[in-house]
Amino acid sequence: MNTQTMSEALPRSRPQADIGRLRDQLERLGLGFAAEHLAGAVTDAVKEDRGPASLLEALLSLELERREERRLRKALQLSGLPTGQTIANFDFAFQPSVERSRIETLSTCAWIRQKQNLLIQGPPGVGKTHLAVALGVKAVECGFSVAFYRLDELLHAMRKDQEVPPARLRRRKYMKPALLVIDEVGFEPFSREDASLFFRMVSHRYTRGSVCLTSNKSVREWPEMLAGDEVLATAILDRLLHASHVLNIRGGSYRLKDLDASLKSQG
Ligand SMILES: Nc1ncnc2c1ncn2[C@@H]1O[C@H](COP(=O)(O)OP(=O)(O)O)[C@@H](O)[C@H]1O
Ligand SMILES: [Mg+2]
Repeated sequence: MNTQTMSEALPRSRPQADIGRLRDQLERLGLGFAAEHLAGAVTDAVKEDRGPASLLEALLSLELERREERRLRKALQLSGLPTGQTIANFDFAFQPSVERSRIETLSTCAWIRQKQNLLIQGPPGVGKTHLAVALGVKAVECGFSVAFYRLDELLHAMRKDQEVPPARLRRRKYMKPALLVIDEVGFEPFSREDASLFFRMVSHRYTRGSVCLTSNKSVREWPEMLAGDEVLATAILDRLLHASHVLNIRGGSYRLKDLDASLKSQG
């Protein structure tokens, strides 16, 4: 037996890591979640007889998962998207004019990557807002910046920015994000000034970012909705529809479905 193997055979005192110091180092490196769970993760690894690589993997996976959760929560908050409306809780059986496969394709966000637009049209209560919100959430999950506005809120914000020079306008919340969701277009007619502000936004975003818009008006009714200005309406629609997807939802109102059912049962 040579000396080297002898010394390997002898019991060696293993250097003990100081958990408190390790925790502090993780925190200083900005790995706050890993720091918080260090002691528990070490205990688990010892209990389950897992090696150091497995312990490290568990800690780093936890850090990455928690960071992603935090990013999502913050991005959703920032987007102004309402909560609770998702693809998972959309009842496709109730609305057969909405093809599940089309929504699944849109859920991949390829259209946003390609800076295309999406128009969701249909009468009240058919799920236009629900789908626009659900696809907005998907976009946030895919890592895109999203801003959600009802049209009246958007017009209000744009009116305040009327005199803002183009260079500064670019940084506005409705100009900058990869996806701008505009809900409820068509309930109120536009004034001429609002129509021209709307054109400025559409024309700025054209080829730069996506717009998802919900409306109870069909495209044919847009000139009338836009202060009767055919030229402006054509200019806006030309840009919006150039690279776009259109979902036409026909069918009953989800809001009224229980009422319909109870009226039917009363004969
Ligand atoms: N197919 C559906 N499955 C589940 N919930 C739906 C569906 N369609 C509409 N809803 C719900 O009904 C309500 C009205 O839908 P909404 O999307 O606001 O309609 P719209 O914007 O077309 O007027 C919302 O609470 C929405 O979540
Ligand atoms: Mg709506």
